[in-house]
Amino acid sequence: MKQIGFFLIVTALSFNTMLNAQEAEFSNLLQNIDSREKVSLNGLWDIIIDPLENGYYNHRLQPKDDGYFRNAKMKSPSDLIEYNFDTSLQLMVPGDWNTQMEKLYYYEGTIWYKKDFKHTVKKDELVYLYFEAVNYEAIVYLNGERIGSHIGGYTPFQFDVTGKLKEGDNFVVLKVDNKRKPENVPTVNQDWWNYGGITRAVHLISTPVSHISDYSIQLSKGSTNTIEGWVTINNATEGETVTISIPELKKSVNANVQNGKATFSITAKPILWEPKNPKLYEVVIKTNTDKLTDNIGFRTIETKGSKIVLNGKDIFLKGICIHEEAPFKTGRVTSVEECKILLNWAKDLGCNFIRLAHYPHSETMIREAEKMGFLIWSEIPVYWTIQFENPDTYNNAQNQLTEMISRDKNRAGVILWSVANETPEGIARLSFLTNLAEHARKLDNTRLITAALDTQSQDNEGRFIEDPLGKAVDVIGINNYCGWYYGSPESCAEIKWKSAYNKPMIMSEIGGGALFGLHGEKNERWTEEYQADVYKNNIEMMKNIDFLAGLSPWLLMDFLSSRRPLKRIQEDFNRKGLISEKGMKKQSFFILRDYYLKENN
Ligand code: GCU
Repeated sequence: MKQIGFFLIVTALSFNTMLNAQEAEFSNLLQNIDSREKVSLNGLWDIIIDPLENGYYNHRLQPKDDGYFRNAKMKSPSDLIEYNFDTSLQLMVPGDWNTQMEKLYYYEGTIWYKKDFKHTVKKDELVYLYFEAVNYEAIVYLNGERIGSHIGGYTPFQFDVTGKLKEGDNFVVLKVDNKRKPENVPTVNQDWWNYGGITRAVHLISTPVSHISDYSIQLSKGSTNTIEGWVTINNATEGETVTISIPELKKSVNANVQNGKATFSITAKPILWEPKNPKLYEVVIKTNTDKLTDNIGFRTIETKGSKIVLNGKDIFLKGICIHEEAPFKTGRVTSVEECKILLNWAKDLGCNFIRLAHYPHSETMIREAEKMGFLIWSEIPVYWTIQFENPDTYNNAQNQLTEMISRDKNRAGVILWSVANETPEGIARLSFLTNLAEHARKLDNTRLITAALDTQSQDNEGRFIEDPLGKAVDVIGINNYCGWYYGSPESCAEIKWKSAYNKPMIMSEIGGGALFGLHGEKNERWTEEYQADVYKNNIEMMKNIDFLAGLSPWLLMDFLSSRRPLKRIQEDFNRKGLISEKGMKKQSFFILRDYYLKENN
C-alpha cells in the first residue's frame, strides 16, 4: 500500500511542478469594450442543426475542406450542395438555443451559425471580432476561412480580423458545440441547464493601429492614498507618453511606454468604494492615437484572522447566490434589464454581497452589480468531480480563470475569485486547485481567493473544517445543507462549528426546495413552511459561528436543471430559490431579509 501512496504523491508533485512552469499572463482581451467604437453583430443568425457534425467531417470522420463554414451557393442548376444557410432556420444572438425552439430544449451537440454583414475597410484601423461568451466550444470562420477557436462557455474571446475583412459583403460562421465531456470544465454533470449557443453579444471592434489594449488601475495593496497600475499599448512607439487622468480628483500623470507597457503611480485620496457608497471615478487614458474612459472604484480588501476587512473595517457579507438565469422566461440572461431585475431582488433582500454561481457572469452583470454597491464572488466552473489528473483539463480551467480575471480586474465590486465548487478531496484535486489559487494570485494579488467546499466532517462536537484546500485559500466557503440533504431542520440550530484554520468562513450555500404557493405543516417537504424552517434553524446555527464572515444562501431564484424532474413540484426546476421563476417571493425570502436587516454591520 505504501508504494501506491508514494507513487500518488510523486505523480501529484510532478503534475504540480509541470503546472508551476506556466507563466501567469493576462489574456489578450481588449479591456473595457464598452468604451470602444464597435458594430454589433447581434440579431437573427441563420443556423443549421448538425448532431452528426456532417458540416465538419466526411463519412470517414475526417475534417472536410468544403464544410458548412464555406457557406457555399449553387452556381449552376446541377451543383450538389446539401445545405443552405439562407433558407435555413434562425436563432437570436445573444441567446441560448434551448429556450428559443421547443425542439432544441434538450439539444446537446453542434449548431452552425452564420451572419452576413457589410464592412468598410479603413487603412488606419485594426478590427477585432469579439465574442462575450459562447457555450461551450466555438470554431470561428470568416469568409470561409478558419480564424480560431475557443473552449469555455462563460468568458470572452477575440480575433484580430484586420486584413481578413472584405470591402462590402462579409460573412462569419461559427460551429458551436455544447456537448458535455468528462475532460471539460465543467464536466458531464452539473446542476444547471446546459444552455448552448452564442449566449452573449458579438461585436466588431475598431481601434487605431496603435491602441490601448489592456490596463490595471487600482489602489496599491494595503494603501488608501496611492493609485497605481499599468497600461499596455499594441503597436506602441518606444518611449511614447501615456496620460492617465482622474478629473474629479484633479490628478493626471504621464508615463512612458517601454516594451509596450507603461507603469504609473498617483498619490490621491479617493472616496473609497463601499456598498453604502459605491463611488466610481471617471478615469481617462490617452495616447497620441487613442483614448479610453472607464469608471473605476477604489477600495481595499483583506482578511484579518477570521474577519473580512473592507477599507480597514470588518464587514459581514449578507449575500445570496445567483445563477445567470433570466427571470420570468428562463434561459440565459441576455440584457441589462434582466440583470437589474435580479440585482434589485437581491437589494430587496437586504444583500450587500452576491455569489455569481457557478461560472463567470457577463461583464454587464458585474458592472451593474458594482454600480449598485454589491460585493461580488466570481467563480470558474470547476464544479464537482472534474478530471483533476488531466493536464488539458487543468489548462482549460486555468485559461478560464485567466480570462475571468483579465476581464474584471478593474472592477472594485469583485473581492473574491473562487477556483472550485464542491470538489472531492484528493491529492490530484489539491494540487490542481492549489495551482489555480497561486495562478490567480500571480495575476491579481489584491483580491481574496476562495473555494466553496463540501460540508465538512462531523464528530460529536459538531462540524470541523479541515479540508487541506483551506490552506491554499484566503476565505473558506462551506456549502451546508443541514435540514435538506441531511438532518432535520430543527437539528441544525444546535450544530457547532470549528475550523482548523484561522481564516474567514463564508457559508456559501444553505437552503432547501419549496414550490411557491404550496403550503402545509413545516415537516412537509416542498412546502414553503418546510423551506422557512430550514432557514430559521440554519440562521440560528450561524449565529453561533464566531469565525463566520458572511453567507450566500442557495439561491435567489428557481432555475432550470435537468437533474430536477419531480412531477408537479420541480418540472425541471431546482426549487431552492427564495423567489419562483415567475418572480413570486416565498416565505424564506422574508425570513432571510429580516435576519439581514437586523444584522448590524
Ligand atoms: C450544491 C451545488 C449547487 C446545487 C445545489 C443543490 O451545493 O453547489 O450547484 O444546485 O447544491 O443541490 O440544489
